[in-house]
Amino acid sequence: MDVEVIKKQFPIFDQTNPAGKDLIYLDNAATTQKPRVVIDAIAGYYSGYNANVGRGSYWPATAATVAFKNARTAVREFINAASSKECIFTSGTTDAINKVANNYLMPDLTSSDSVIVSEMEHHGNFVPWQQACLRTGARLKVIPLTNDGDLDYEAFESLLDDSVKLVAVTAISNTLGTKNDLQRIIRAARKYGAVVLVDAAQLLTHEPIDVQKLDCDFLVFSGHKVFGPTGIGVLYGKEELLEAMSPLSYGGGMVKQVTVEQTVFADLPKKHEAGTSNIAGVIGLGAAIGFVNQLGIESIHAHTKALTDYALERLKNLEGVTVLGLPKERAAVISLVVGQVHPHDVASFLSERGIAIRAGHHCTHPLMQRLGVQGTCRISFGIYNTPAEVDQLIEGLEEVRDFFA
Ligand SMILES: Cc1ncc(COP(=O)(O)O)c(C=O)c1O
Repeated sequence: MDVEVIKKQFPIFDQTNPAGKDLIYLDNAATTQKPRVVIDAIAGYYSGYNANVGRGSYWPATAATVAFKNARTAVREFINAASSKECIFTSGTTDAINKVANNYLMPDLTSSDSVIVSEMEHHGNFVPWQQACLRTGARLKVIPLTNDGDLDYEAFESLLDDSVKLVAVTAISNTLGTKNDLQRIIRAARKYGAVVLVDAAQLLTHEPIDVQKLDCDFLVFSGHKVFGPTGIGVLYGKEELLEAMSPLSYGGGMVKQVTVEQTVFADLPKKHEAGTSNIAGVIGLGAAIGFVNQLGIESIHAHTKALTDYALERLKNLEGVTVLGLPKERAAVISLVVGQVHPHDVASFLSERGIAIRAGHHCTHPLMQRLGVQGTCRISFGIYNTPAEVDQLIEGLEEVRDFFA
């Protein structure tokens, strides 16, 4: 895989910062950059065949409807769902989780029930469950972490009992990079009849996913983290669960027939997609999945894994810099601190050199509390990063450390 050739497909890298430095983008866990093919797909829809989907018989409407359907098929194949009916478009991961919390969990949740999340969850996969529990009196149980930043699986298993209605866990920690053993979690939850939601926001750029093999009940992700646009995401749910759920919202597009007295809802997936969809977003997501497929998710994984291993090796020997967490399996995300230097100072310093990293709590306050820090510096790799960029990061970190010493 020729990274320089791939990088050329991302127009953002044609620019430099005000100091003339190339962009070294190491914030892929926050969002990925967009390749030309995705930008063109979105612009192509608006300029070439803009129309609402499913309702028109004229040619732009037909073209838009076909593109929309093709994108749903691309999503289905990407995660190997049994049917396109199981792939609901949402505005993103957070939206999808809120929908499951409000429409699947809440209606039957009582004060004798419980929900399990983990200490490493992004707020998007924490607050909706916490609020559902607070509103119903159900108990929120939190899987603790080991000192290495792995889930404590034995502690998790001891939290399981018949009261547990749902387990919501991330595939990959967006802060520490920990890769969780989803199969173990799902197997254990099944014994107690608990439903499992997988937050795959950080997974899909790096690794293939097969929801049937995994046997999760729900899986959610955002388009913008897999080279797609913002404002679009996917809620995968097993057909019987999506069927059993009342519509996520009500309005046009999700009905078969409306009378003054009653409404007959449309079949899946339309039942859960009221109103005009984010058509450009869906088409952009379809193009993004096409882009990933063309590169091959295994090749992407091999590339980002090699970069992560190289960065960890170099960081190990970097005096004054501490990598947080030593998980057994790690994705392309590394959190670190530079002595007592505030993470925002590190990020601003690096930014002048064209290096974009993220500093702060990464929407994981409970994890920050567990780690006993206010924030961290986070480095996350993507397909367009190179070992030379890692070297520049290391030089930058040395400079920050020495400057603030
Ligand atoms: C693990 C994880 N879950 C959920 C989210 C929320 O994603 P979004 O803001 O696209 O809804 C993120 C975003 O960083 C994430 O990394």
